[in-house]
Amino acid sequence: MNTIAAATPAHARARTVFVGIIAALAGLMFGLDIGVISGATQFIQHDFGVTDRTIELIVSAMMLGAAIGALGAGWLSARLGRKRSLILAAVLFVIGSLLCAAAPTPSLLIGARIVLGLAIGVATFTAPLYLAEISAEDNRGAMVSTYQLMITIGILVAFLSDTAFSYSGNWRWMLGVIAIPGVLFLFGVLLLPGSPRWLLMRGYKQRATEVLLKLRGDREVVAREVADIENQLLTPQRGWSLFFKNRNFRRSVGLGVLLQLMQQFTGMNVVMYYAPRIFQSMGYATHQQMWFTALVGLINVLATFIAIALVDRWGRKPILYVGFCVMAIGLGVVGTMMHLGTTTHAAQLFTVVMLLIFIVGFAMSAGPLIWTLCSEIQPLKGRDFGIACSTVTNWIANMIVGATFLTLLDHVGHAGTFWLYAGLNLIFLIITIALVPETRGVTLEQIERNLMAGKRLRDIGQ
Ligand code: BGC
Repeated sequence: MNTIAAATPAHARARTVFVGIIAALAGLMFGLDIGVISGATQFIQHDFGVTDRTIELIVSAMMLGAAIGALGAGWLSARLGRKRSLILAAVLFVIGSLLCAAAPTPSLLIGARIVLGLAIGVATFTAPLYLAEISAEDNRGAMVSTYQLMITIGILVAFLSDTAFSYSGNWRWMLGVIAIPGVLFLFGVLLLPGSPRWLLMRGYKQRATEVLLKLRGDREVVAREVADIENQLLTPQRGWSLFFKNRNFRRSVGLGVLLQLMQQFTGMNVVMYYAPRIFQSMGYATHQQMWFTALVGLINVLATFIAIALVDRWGRKPILYVGFCVMAIGLGVVGTMMHLGTTTHAAQLFTVVMLLIFIVGFAMSAGPLIWTLCSEIQPLKGRDFGIACSTVTNWIANMIVGATFLTLLDHVGHAGTFWLYAGLNLIFLIITIALVPETRGVTLEQIERNLMAGKRLRDIGQ
């Protein structure tokens, strides 16, 4: 250890930021994957001459892959380590995007989307874990918010690139071009240090100390952090056995699962996957549809800053109340306009604005906050297990939303579909009031003590 030159604090901070940026690129990959398909579906449908049902399968195959990837990621990131899991995710991401671009038949495209999904499943489990493990205490919140911001930026970039390729109608380029950021991500991940926590878990104390020294730059701080992590590691992770034995842990796992169901059934991804189609039904032509979709992506990025600014001031619950109300109103009005018919220019524009208001509602609340809450409510002993359960739920619910939208339109119509999601948002408002805890400014240890003492879920943050 003496041979290691300690970095100056400024160097150490720069390095931490660098590492954070690269790891947050995983969020960018997540976003690119979510966003890229929306602009491509109409051209895929035209080229392959397939039904809406097949389009739903193409869209949702990625979420199936992601659910499987997230299921396996806990095991992978414990075995291979966080860094190697991220490398694997990056490689799969590049291969998956190229396979999508080259797919000669709809079935092969579905298969390629599953491969792409596997990559995202592994990355969405591992990246936030890695981020939390390498960040210092005082910038952990900011690091995790950066991750959500990067998701929205990824979606925006995919929407913009889809818009550019829509002029030639080349969906293969739309799907293939995201291999380029994938390669950059791969090179970036190769430069990352290993996670100090994982290295200590595996008994590589010397290497863990070296990494921390480079990141923090202060021997004393590093010695304390190593001792802290070693201390935490004395509490073994017990997923399933704790789940079967401990009712309180089952409650926190159940809450995590419920929170992710709520996030997905807001209906956000209906807009993410099918925005051009929605604008088409309002009467807009192809390029207008694409530009409005890009606007949706931009508003999604900008409104995320509202959450970042307010989350530690207002707290989680008030922001969720506002978010669910805004989403219910936004979608309720969109449904009503669809019901009345958007025949005039003014009616069309008004409907677009209400859809954008819905996006603001999501991006300022459920988007970032559900991920935050899910990482806060699990007790240390079962944290990996609890977060894995909620992340897998996120992807399964995401798949259901993606796989049912066009069928819903067929059966209950546009107005009915949007009213359905508006109604769900109202139910989520009530669930938030009744069940969701306020975790602002509370230590994770206090939340855990309250949970394990059997306090009501909505009180575990007090
Ligand atoms: C959600 C994604 C969604 C994205 C939109 C994320 O928090 O998990 O499903 O597409 O936000 O910005």
